[in-house]
Amino acid sequence: MNSKQRNILVTSALPYANGPIHIGHLVEYIQTDIWVRFQKMRGHRCIYVCADDAHGTPIMLRARQEGIGPEQLIERISVEHKADFAAFRVDFDNYHSTHSDENQFCANTIFERNRDKGHISRRVITQAYDTVEQMFLPDRFIKGECPKCGSQDQYGDNCEVCGASYSPSELKNPVSAVSGTTPENRESEHYFFRLGDFEEMLKQWTRGGHLQREVSNKLDEWFKAGLQEWDISRDAPYFGFEIPGHPEKFFYVWMDAPIGYMASFKNLCDRTEGLNFDDFWGPDSAAELYHFIGKDIIYFHALFWPAMLHGADFRTPTAIFSHGFLTVDGQKMSKSRGTFIKARTYLDHLNPEYLRYYFAAKLGSGVEDIDLNLEDFSARVNSDLVGKVVNIASRCAGFINKRFDGLLAAEIAEPGLFSDFLSAGNIIAEHYEQREFSRAVREIMTLADRANQYIDDKKPWIIAKQEGSDQSLQAVCSMGLNLFRLLIGYLRPILPATAERSEAFLQVPAMSWSDLSTPLRAHRIAKFKPLMTRIEQPQILAMVESSKEDLEASPPPVTPSSFLTDDPIGDPVDFPAFSRVDLRIARILSAGPVEGADKLLRLTLDLGGETRQVFAGIKAAYHPDQLEGRLTLMVANLAPRKMRFGISEGMVLAAGPGGTDIFLLSPDSGAQPGMRVK
Ligand code: 2FM
Ligand code: ZN
Repeated sequence: MNSKQRNILVTSALPYANGPIHIGHLVEYIQTDIWVRFQKMRGHRCIYVCADDAHGTPIMLRARQEGIGPEQLIERISVEHKADFAAFRVDFDNYHSTHSDENQFCANTIFERNRDKGHISRRVITQAYDTVEQMFLPDRFIKGECPKCGSQDQYGDNCEVCGASYSPSELKNPVSAVSGTTPENRESEHYFFRLGDFEEMLKQWTRGGHLQREVSNKLDEWFKAGLQEWDISRDAPYFGFEIPGHPEKFFYVWMDAPIGYMASFKNLCDRTEGLNFDDFWGPDSAAELYHFIGKDIIYFHALFWPAMLHGADFRTPTAIFSHGFLTVDGQKMSKSRGTFIKARTYLDHLNPEYLRYYFAAKLGSGVEDIDLNLEDFSARVNSDLVGKVVNIASRCAGFINKRFDGLLAAEIAEPGLFSDFLSAGNIIAEHYEQREFSRAVREIMTLADRANQYIDDKKPWIIAKQEGSDQSLQAVCSMGLNLFRLLIGYLRPILPATAERSEAFLQVPAMSWSDLSTPLRAHRIAKFKPLMTRIEQPQILAMVESSKEDLEASPPPVTPSSFLTDDPIGDPVDFPAFSRVDLRIARILSAGPVEGADKLLRLTLDLGGETRQVFAGIKAAYHPDQLEGRLTLMVANLAPRKMRFGISEGMVLAAGPGGTDIFLLSPDSGAQPGMRVK
């Protein structure tokens, strides 16, 4: 054990439990995992925790759309996330969920302590309310015309066309993206975290060396703009934790998300001998605490989070490490170009170590975006890892295996070269420590060039042919393999699987940083097996193609609102995607009101033998008597939606702006229920 052993707790941002991990996410998990593996190799106690971010409206609605409960959804996604992380060798010490007892306990504690010190206030606010779904609408679930430039179909918080930010009440012709109806304004009492109470503490903290310089500068701008109270509550229906003592009010997902870091650690402590929660989170903790995050969530981590912790008498983070976004071939990841690549799709085609290496070769300690250039990706991996590093072993191992029965020489042939490699380890370690992985990689590749140069100069393939040259052949190849061992040791945080295979070949235990200074002498190695193969262009093309297929397999959900707004003709849909929509003729067998819903009718539809129940927002336009017996068109394969009145098993098609101006589509006479639209 290292005499100056540090206690370090590390987190990555918690991924939402409503979608798959993609390569954009992986930048951060790989970055964090490399740093953690490096700290562990240095002999420190470094604990890496994460969890699924399981609460909030999108998760609630996604589950409803799938006709399952949110618990079932988050369970399924958790299994998928864990499998993807494991395959990329992102090695969490614990992976938990924000929907957990530990998180509820920690969230309540943080809320109650802040409340008792007067840092929580209550007041009534007015918000958009969907009267059909009977829920308040988050900004992202309201669409309408931008109040600044008039662009259609913009979200309730900002316009993607002109970039304007506004409040949902300013949107023109707002429509709920959940039910497609026009929301009403309603009042409700909310709970606010008084961020302004922490202004002095935060100014000190944000300038106290806990943030990257460019991030501190950004925070100065936010301080100038003034710290606003933060709304930490949401009304039912909501998937989250009920606020203690306030039925039907829930903690906003972003309130309990960072608390998930604590909860995951607490869950680990509760089942790990000798690991004490307070040692890491108590106000006087001597442990280090680091959060790796994307630059888009700095506000939550550098303002709300330290303030909430401080207000609740917990320690604040040692540092927040922010990174930039991933672009692919210089552009935002795109589903249509096939560059929105899911972790699973990548794994179907390529070795995860390639991506770990490429990201490391690009990552620095700043917040700049990084680009995955697919051509450069294969060129770099092939040239550096296959052409330089792995090649050293394959150039030397054959002779040692065949001519010396796997036995390395008793002495190091070039102690000066070995010691140059060793001392370079200090610079490499410093780069890892500072998260300057691209610099570490550059140093390592310079060493790899030197090792190859050594072999080129010594030419073991020529020595091998000379009589009586055994000793010198063994010395050169043993030297080469010792240099290879150092290179793999230095690359170990980045390439854990290749390092393990190399350790098996070298017949050494998992290498720590301090092990590296002792060379292998008179040591027997195993038979050499290729450690890594080249990336071939067809693999990349196939991955990009599959990513396009992923898109076809999961077209964006069709919301009723797509049928009810006056949008201009939208993006083209290609034929395979369109042909997946199963449009059928249906006869309305019965129509009737829905208790508790002002705008809906319950329709029973005959699909030619099969009966479906569908809720349609057409009550203002039709009396049930006008509908019974008539033929219409329905989407027969829309995923069932669980609504509070029951399950809606499809959708009838109507046109028009809404209210009384909705026109149900009808086929010509002669059409029969169940006929498919072609
Ligand atoms: O932005 C996101 O994807 C969030 N789920 C990150 C949460 S990080 C932490 F606060 F939990
Ligand atoms: Zn606009």
